[in-house]
Amino acid sequence: MEIIALTNQKGGVSKTTSCVNIGTILAEQGKKVLLIDLDSQGNLTSILNINTNDNTIRYTIYDCLCNTIGLSDAIVHTEFNVDIVPSDLNLSNADIELLNRNNKECTLKKLIEKSYLDYDYILIDCNPSLNLLTINALVASNSFIIPLEASILSIYGLNQLIKIVKLIQKKLNPGLKNMGVFLAKVDSRSTLSKEFDLQLKEIFGDKLFSTIIHQNTAIVRSQINRKPINFYDRSAKGYKEYLELTKEVMKRGN
Ligand SMILES: Nc1ncnc2c1ncn2[C@@H]1O[C@H](COP(=O)(O)OP(=O)(O)OP(=O)(O)O)[C@@H](O)[C@H]1O
Ligand SMILES: [Mg+2]
Repeated sequence: MEIIALTNQKGGVSKTTSCVNIGTILAEQGKKVLLIDLDSQGNLTSILNINTNDNTIRYTIYDCLCNTIGLSDAIVHTEFNVDIVPSDLNLSNADIELLNRNNKECTLKKLIEKSYLDYDYILIDCNPSLNLLTINALVASNSFIIPLEASILSIYGLNQLIKIVKLIQKKLNPGLKNMGVFLAKVDSRSTLSKEFDLQLKEIFGDKLFSTIIHQNTAIVRSQINRKPINFYDRSAKGYKEYLELTKEVMKRGN
């Protein structure tokens, strides 16, 4: 089972969009996929057309982390061939509630271990900060993927994340791997300068995914319609690019 965290403390870089689309395209490729919404904004949950106020939804990831609910009891099947552990605003209390617990950084890891889940992939959608929830995601994962905005400033911001990853690798999860970094939401009209391109290659080397995800209105529309891109418009450039990225993710996995 490959457990991958999509993470970047910068907001709006397409962590959630990538989690939804890579997840449902992995399912399309025959893989069994669980998505975990680890953000109190609950965007992943809403895009997959799940409403935690609906009385068929009994538990969220908050109940698993902070109460005694098992992960399996919170799993919801979606209409898009992936399962999800949903989230909502309650999750914003988790950081404080977990604070005084022993092994607070390992809460999610233990939940996953205890549940004997049968999935090929678990993708974790992180929130835009380096808080205890994000640390829990990185401790529970085999690897992480960083969606990156195409600007030099967003690269500078990664130092903090890399520092935390190193600490986690040293103390809590020695096996944690950087699967790679990809550029997302790139404006097709702007050609990335040669200089920037070289800098990216110099910094990330073979960690840089070959696929670039461009800005694509079909992606935005698919989310308004609460669907992943492969269920909304398979002719869209956004679908083709996410398919390529997903194939790279499959190749880079264990
Ligand atoms: N390829 C794309 N083309 C156009 N718009 C996109 C694309 N990818 C993401 N977006 C839009 O960018 C915004 C941010 O995307 P998303 O919510 O996936 O980022 P995020 O990193 O999860 O944000 P947060 O840090 O708030 O969790 C959303 O409005 C989304 O619709
Ligand atoms: Mg998000």
